[in-house]
Amino acid sequence: MKHTDISLILGSPESYFDKDVTVCGWIRTFRDGKNMAFMALNDGTSLQHLQIVVDKNSCSADLSALSTGASVAVKGVAVKSFNANQAVEVNASQVTLLGACPQDYPIQKTKTSLDFLRTLPHLRVRTNTFNAVFRIRSKLSAAIHEFFQQRGFLYVHTPIITGSDCEGAGEIFQVTTVGFDPSVKTQQEYDAKDFFGQRAGLTVSGQLEGEVMATAFGKIYTFGPTFRAENSNTTRHAAEFWQIEPEVAFAELPDIMEIATDFIKHIIASVLDGCGEELAFLEKFYEQGLREKLRNVVDNDFAVVDYAQAVEILKNSGQSFQYPVDWGKDLQTEHERYLTDVVYKRPVFVVNYPKDIKSFYMKQNVDGRTVAATDLLVPGVGEIIGCSEREADYDKLLKAITDRHMKLDDYKNYLDLRRYGSVPHSGFGLGLERILMYVTGMGNIRDTIAFPRAKNELR
Ligand code: 4AD
Ligand code: MG
Repeated sequence: MKHTDISLILGSPESYFDKDVTVCGWIRTFRDGKNMAFMALNDGTSLQHLQIVVDKNSCSADLSALSTGASVAVKGVAVKSFNANQAVEVNASQVTLLGACPQDYPIQKTKTSLDFLRTLPHLRVRTNTFNAVFRIRSKLSAAIHEFFQQRGFLYVHTPIITGSDCEGAGEIFQVTTVGFDPSVKTQQEYDAKDFFGQRAGLTVSGQLEGEVMATAFGKIYTFGPTFRAENSNTTRHAAEFWQIEPEVAFAELPDIMEIATDFIKHIIASVLDGCGEELAFLEKFYEQGLREKLRNVVDNDFAVVDYAQAVEILKNSGQSFQYPVDWGKDLQTEHERYLTDVVYKRPVFVVNYPKDIKSFYMKQNVDGRTVAATDLLVPGVGEIIGCSEREADYDKLLKAITDRHMKLDDYKNYLDLRRYGSVPHSGFGLGLERILMYVTGMGNIRDTIAFPRAKNELR
């Protein structure tokens, strides 16, 4: 159908004045008067609606089926609007109903709680809130590629089906073609019968393959779906999320932290530049001061605190936390939130975690107790990045694998990277939905991904 995107008309109204246009879209609101009817039309290309004016004396449209949610094609003339809130409107000469929308259409002005909308994943995306969120998601994704491409990183695709558990947290979704079979008596028998002749699962991280690529291409990044069978039902965990994982050869922890900082600033600056309208909308309805918060991230340094020091700060805070704070224990959300929301009030890198609470691949520090790893925490959300220098020493890595009783066979190739021209290298993983929560002010990760997958949730 030949038609003009509403975003183009709203983007440069003057160039459309007094011209014939055809626009298509869904009716957001419809007001029917005696001589005139008005509709706010949205085609999804913009957060803003286009006002359509129907003069019943000159436009012989059948208006009876027009209602909120109906889809129409409108032919008319774009004119300067008398309404101060909009620059342009369209005087319709022809309105064609494409699809009627009965009164039981659940997306109505009065029922817009996010909890309610989550029950309607197929329709909630037609609301202003999700228009803004997904437009920002798209912009953020483009900015992520832009950042790495401008700096000569190779975009690589790591497998979705894998045979190893990168994070060792036992959160792998199994991939199998073998159904219930009472004749199978052991796990080995079962695995041998399976498609790959061994156990397979959905990737929890592209890092291990990313390291392979980085030790050939120097600087790489992945950007793809990641799966975790998180058994917890929180507002920050999804079973399927998108992760960005750069991996850089000849880089130590401070180098990768510098890249992570520049990266976060770059993608946030892009959203500030390109999604002003969307941010203004979210600021009005979801998070006061959102744009100032983001501007501050772009303009200021991130804080850095040693894990041991963070533990002391928490211990001396006078707060009564639900979970105990002690050197050697992982930081819980409440602890992270105290550090970001109360102490630092800006993004903070917590560095040098105890090795026992972190993954096997992290570079062991000379103290023998900690690893060269850092999490980037942000106010309101907590951890958005997990980052580390990788253990490049064959013997130390081998020991970390065997100490954790991991299956050596699964990590043979990974260990080989430390036998054949091993180099210091580092990388990190950013959860796209986590940073989207931060950028949009959405308090629940389910509202940053179109079709959220979580425990007992598969709509
Ligand atoms: O800290 P994580 O587990 O680190 C890794 O996977 C490393 N292999 C990354 C690397 O160094 N290449 O996860 C990285 C990030 C987290 O900081 C968080 O933002 C996000 O992935 N993440 C999740 N996001 C949504 N739902 C979940 N269940 C998530 N688990 C991790
Ligand atoms: Mg982590």
